[in-house]
Amino acid sequence: DRVLVLAGGMSPEHEVSLRSGRRVAEALRRLGIEVQIADAGSGLLGRLAGDSPQVVFPVLHGASGEDGSIREILELSGVPYVGARPQACRAAFAKPIAKALVAERGIAVPRGVALPKSIFHDLGAPAVLERVVDALGLPLFVKPDQGGSAFGATAVNTAQELSAALVSCFAYSDTALIEERVDGTEIAVGVLDLGEGPFALPAVEIVPDGGVYDYSARYTAGRTEFFSPARLGEEVAAAAAEAAITAHRALGLRDVSRTDLIVGADGRVRFLEVNVAPGMTDTSTLPLAVQAADLDFAVVCRELAHRALL
Ligand code: DAL
Ligand code: MG
Repeated sequence: DRVLVLAGGMSPEHEVSLRSGRRVAEALRRLGIEVQIADAGSGLLGRLAGDSPQVVFPVLHGASGEDGSIREILELSGVPYVGARPQACRAAFAKPIAKALVAERGIAVPRGVALPKSIFHDLGAPAVLERVVDALGLPLFVKPDQGGSAFGATAVNTAQELSAALVSCFAYSDTALIEERVDGTEIAVGVLDLGEGPFALPAVEIVPDGGVYDYSARYTAGRTEFFSPARLGEEVAAAAAEAAITAHRALGLRDVSRTDLIVGADGRVRFLEVNVAPGMTDTSTLPLAVQAADLDFAVVCRELAHRALL
């Protein structure tokens, strides 16, 4: 087998993707599989022609990696690849769209509003901010409508903090998703399909030391405590698994995804977002979930690559 792992890319999550990609490549090599690793930032078509891989394993996070663009190129090249198809990626990567599609299937989502930057110019920032706080209350969470690894995302406690949060957000996207901040426990639920339909991995509970799962808490070893499996009652664990499977199916995803959820103090599970190229770094939750399920990470990667060939 010759597998080409795509990592790096052009999004702010370049570095994270390299860490994820190296981990996948090392795992596959351990099983004796021939693996090349390429930065999809440039010369992708050349690499596809030159290396003539049998399978591409995209481990690209963020824009172009997860929004379907690179996978569009893979489709046009005709090379089999792991993971969701471009159209499904587009819907999943646009958080407001993903939320709407998942909510339609009866999964709870935080109340929120997606606002384009232009609306602040058209209506005046103070008026918009006032209406947002009136409608959603406080505290809030502000994040780019597209993106990952918490870039441009801010937890907002007071109305005064909202403008600065939006400025950070608009550095990454022209549309902000402003949501009510649900108090509770953050969990991530991986979904795999190794040939017999999608199944949920055990939920992983995320407890960042400073309370906020920002970039540094995500990628600095020791800054976040993970409970794998999450400390959930049976019913909540089942609801979390169901939410992740529902999201995977509602968006038409394939092979692998990771749904991020929040379990409110009321015990209700709410959908935050779904990732089509979940982090595979040594501080990411999906590899932990694979371990909690008594699966071997390398074997899972190999099965995913094999499935792409079918
Ligand atoms: N966007 C990062 C890589 C994640 O969701 O794990
Ligand atoms: Mg994400």
